[in-house]
Amino acid sequence: MNPYTNKQHDSVSDDIVWHNTSVSAQERAQLKQQKPVVLWFTGLSGSGKSTVANAVEKKLLALGKHSYLLDGDNVRHGLNKDLGFSDEDRVENIRRIGEVAKLFVDSGTIVLTAFISPFIADRAQVRVLLSDEQFLEVFIDTPLDVCEQRDPKGLYKKARAGEIKHFTGIDSEYEAPSNAEIHVQTAGVSIEACAQQIINLLIEREYI
Ligand code: ADX
Repeated sequence: MNPYTNKQHDSVSDDIVWHNTSVSAQERAQLKQQKPVVLWFTGLSGSGKSTVANAVEKKLLALGKHSYLLDGDNVRHGLNKDLGFSDEDRVENIRRIGEVAKLFVDSGTIVLTAFISPFIADRAQVRVLLSDEQFLEVFIDTPLDVCEQRDPKGLYKKARAGEIKHFTGIDSEYEAPSNAEIHVQTAGVSIEACAQQIINLLIEREYI
């Protein structure tokens, strides 16, 4: 079935017709014995999105679950290497990742995405691409001063010195989610505990 039916879809020509595949999304998911979902991590640079997402992925692997992690810095090396950090480019960055995540969900995979994704509207756009059950927003809630203290890539220092423009939290906005399905506070909490909080929810809700 065409997953875009009844969804906003401005630019597709009438000459492009959806083809159904012979193997269904349900069959692929069943093979993997899991309920595919996107765990959409959002948070400031240095908040711990990638670190926690990696820890969750390791736990999923140990449980025999099939996952894939789409990570901001990595995707910007390839698929999105033409995009920078202007508001427009960030919007396009998130739109493409949303579409890729949707394909992975269709393949039966548990997808983890680790992008700042600073704008509420863009995260909401991804949410509507998927069904309610297929999208869980994970707010990696680490205060700016903690991220800035960690500064693992030295980028806050550069941003404060004016060497990087449009840096999230400094001179570009971060719009925190108010109703994320999973709210992870990392300050003073181990990576292991943060990852386990997410795994527990996946078990509770019978994704895995
Ligand atoms: S997003 O805003 O479009 O979602 P994304 O997660 O892909 O951002 O990339 C963020 C990463 O790019 C940061 O962790 C940081 O390493 C790097 N980066 C480089 N320039 C900037 C900038 N101006 N603002 C934020 N992150 C930046």
